[in-house]
Amino acid sequence: MPDPQLVLAARVQAALSAAFGPSYADADPVIRPSQFADLQANVALPLAKKLGRKPRDVAGEIVRNLDTADVVANVEVSGPGFINLTLSDDWIAAEAQRALEDERLGVPPAERPQKTVVEYSSPNVAKEMHVGHLRTTIVGDAIARILAFLGHDVVRDNHVGDWGTPFGMLIEHLLDLGEDAAARDDSSVSDLTAFYQAAREKFDGDEEFADRSRRRVVALQAGDPETLRLWNVLVDVSKRYFNAVYGRLGVTLTDDDIRGESFYNDLLAPTAQELEDKGIAVISDGALCAFPPGFTGREGEPLPVIIRKSDGGYNYSTTDLATIRYRVDTEHVDRMIYVVGAPQALHFQMVFAVARMAGWLNDEVKAEHAQIGNVLGTDGKILRTRAGGTVKLAELLDEAVERAGAVFDEIQHDEPFDDATRAAIVRDVGMGAVKYADLSVARDSEYVFDFDRMISFHGKTGPYLQYAAARIRSIFRKGGIDVADATGPIKLGHPAERALALELLGFGAVLKQAGETAEPHRLANYVYAVADAYTTFYENCPVLKAPDEETKASRLALCAATLRTLETGLHLLGVPTPERM
Ligand code: ARG
Repeated sequence: MPDPQLVLAARVQAALSAAFGPSYADADPVIRPSQFADLQANVALPLAKKLGRKPRDVAGEIVRNLDTADVVANVEVSGPGFINLTLSDDWIAAEAQRALEDERLGVPPAERPQKTVVEYSSPNVAKEMHVGHLRTTIVGDAIARILAFLGHDVVRDNHVGDWGTPFGMLIEHLLDLGEDAAARDDSSVSDLTAFYQAAREKFDGDEEFADRSRRRVVALQAGDPETLRLWNVLVDVSKRYFNAVYGRLGVTLTDDDIRGESFYNDLLAPTAQELEDKGIAVISDGALCAFPPGFTGREGEPLPVIIRKSDGGYNYSTTDLATIRYRVDTEHVDRMIYVVGAPQALHFQMVFAVARMAGWLNDEVKAEHAQIGNVLGTDGKILRTRAGGTVKLAELLDEAVERAGAVFDEIQHDEPFDDATRAAIVRDVGMGAVKYADLSVARDSEYVFDFDRMISFHGKTGPYLQYAAARIRSIFRKGGIDVADATGPIKLGHPAERALALELLGFGAVLKQAGETAEPHRLANYVYAVADAYTTFYENCPVLKAPDEETKASRLALCAATLRTLETGLHLLGVPTPERM
């Protein structure tokens, strides 16, 4: 569906060339929504400076050359030289009709599909996921869904922390507990936090255990089959736990998407070698280091990325460099999006800088850190339980569902639900609330985890949007009409109809932007704006009791287009939409 902004940008562009010659053919005019008209073009002011003319004259000349008869009903030069554009009702109606008839709601697939790795979730084996992982998981999944919908070749990548020195003590602790304990879901092994802490305590307090653990790390790194088998037992317990969380959240990650740090183990030495051969990494104090330009410490001394420690061991950074090298050389990826906490920003900046020096990243192959801000409690500090411990994800999700149930029972329902149906809806509401709250704030800003605010049927919340979609479905049920049969034609009379249709036309542009910037909050905000426009429409324009059949058909079509936009938008955010509420 042609987004009005893009259509008008192209028209203004053409007018510029016609008025001032072909050298203005790529001025890239900016068209923005405006409170004085539908849209406003701000091109005359910057151009006037260049041409040494009065902005209003330049604006007038652009307008004289503007061919918008089919799209625009009114053009006006305002203020110092802004061009205000009011779209024609017929054009809006026709475009909304086209969107309604298109199974992609008129959203064009990307012109240049890119092979894109979206790396997200990435929890650590034998450790409980925390709210930080919850957020990278939810935001990353939305990014992956949006890019896939836009036609990109999306590779979901769960870069789990499944390798490194702690595994020596974890394996030894597993042996002490007895392996079969790992098979039971209620065992001391599946309480990952307790398991990890117990291993740590023994490691710190028991020399013999610490010795065994260190020998175990050596055996693991040497690929000793029995040690690898035990390591796999631990990995499997964790995968069971991750999958339980993903399943509850409706996250699209599967076991096939897991490519943990261990996967790159054999690639660390050749990666280090290549960096050394290219002269990028040098020995400094016995360690192999790269010094990417522009990164300095407090005294101005160059900061190293340590590739290989003086004891021969490799680092977290080395694994990330090996990962980039592999994705470029073997997977031929165009774009890598790292959905990871903001505190790791410097790490990624330095790793990407080294990868650029090595030629793995360049203008064609890009990596970006999609930073995720910290999750805070209502006290403004890092989220903790009342007792001060780290919040367990499973308990957090349980509480969300429980609270969703209480709020759900207070709203008005079309019909009574049996227990199983109610439970299923309430689960969706709880998860939708948590997910939408996470997604509606810019991903890089900190965010306050507040159950009372997120689980409400009022305001900018998941439940409000789920309810909005369910209300539209209920209109169709009451009218005995199939959503697919609401084919219009759409015609616009009331201003609320026009405003709703215009809002619907923005879907494609919003998705494109959300995909380009890896910022799902743009879509989250858009879905809310659609629901808002719908509410005004619904309050002003009776649908089933419309004054005549033509109006009724048009309003039903607007309802259908709104419903599909809401449901598609929420689906791409990973927020479930119960059919009834
Ligand atoms: N496992 C890490 C953590 O929990 C996140 C991994 C991020 N991804 C990466 N390529 N370094 O903090």
